[in-house]
Amino acid sequence: MTSESNRLYTDLAYLWPTMSPPEDYADEGAQLRSELRKRLGPGRARILELGTGGGHLLHHIADGFEATAVDLSEAMLAHSRRLNPGVTHHAGDMRTVRLGETFDAVLIHDAIDYMTTEDDLRAAFVTARAHLRPGGLLLAIPDDYVETFTTPRVWHETRRAKDAEVTFVEYSWDPDPNDTQVETVYVFFFEEDGELRVEVDRHVVGLFSISTWERLLTDSGFEPERVDYPHTDDGRPMYLWICTATT
Ligand SMILES: C[S@@+](CC[C@H](N)C(=O)[O-])C[C@H]1O[C@@H](n2cnc3c(N)ncnc32)[C@H](O)[C@@H]1O
Repeated sequence: MTSESNRLYTDLAYLWPTMSPPEDYADEGAQLRSELRKRLGPGRARILELGTGGGHLLHHIADGFEATAVDLSEAMLAHSRRLNPGVTHHAGDMRTVRLGETFDAVLIHDAIDYMTTEDDLRAAFVTARAHLRPGGLLLAIPDDYVETFTTPRVWHETRRAKDAEVTFVEYSWDPDPNDTQVETVYVFFFEEDGELRVEVDRHVVGLFSISTWERLLTDSGFEPERVDYPHTDDGRPMYLWICTATT
């Protein structure tokens, strides 16, 4: 089988709006927007999303905020630039990027899953802290924890857009329960002119315990609070970390 990885953010990035369309993020966006408004109040607060991808989630949040978005992938940033023309976009790595400005809130959605070691996860939190004013907020939402991940997890779906149809199977498993990584393999099926084309893509993502998250957030200069985030397709628990930057 192919060892090619993260194709969804490079040569297969054109699939993103079909596979995971912006409307799928409306409920999550509403919860995050309401948390931000509750804590930051009205007004044009400055928010930064690290790992914004296609900007599908940000699309439901950005209105009324002064928003900036960072992602590693130029192809994904191109989607977000089209969808969110009022947002400032930068290419960068959430572990190392320094924009030289501060924000009232930093958001890291599922892109945090790509932090595969404790050092990477800490580096992303340190980046968030470096871009926040004292008292500013980090909102972070990983997909899984050691406590919630069951192996294997399998998901499949057929998605149709105006000019495209794709069926994808997503298979997540834990090759080594003693490390901090799990793997998701995507198989994409395209029916084109009576022929079947199949593409495979592998993603290595991080898996940490809830207590590791709490410790690394605290070490990186945050007071973390964990609240329910009921937005999974399979009913497993998910949590939103709402973290205040300490002085
Ligand atoms: C699942 S996509 C995010 C989708 C996004 N939530 C949306 O609403 O469209 C994950 C993103 O994480 C980005 N990413 C992975 N590692 C990163 C890193 N170290 N720094 C910044 N972005 C990263 C990828 O380029 C990809 O665009």
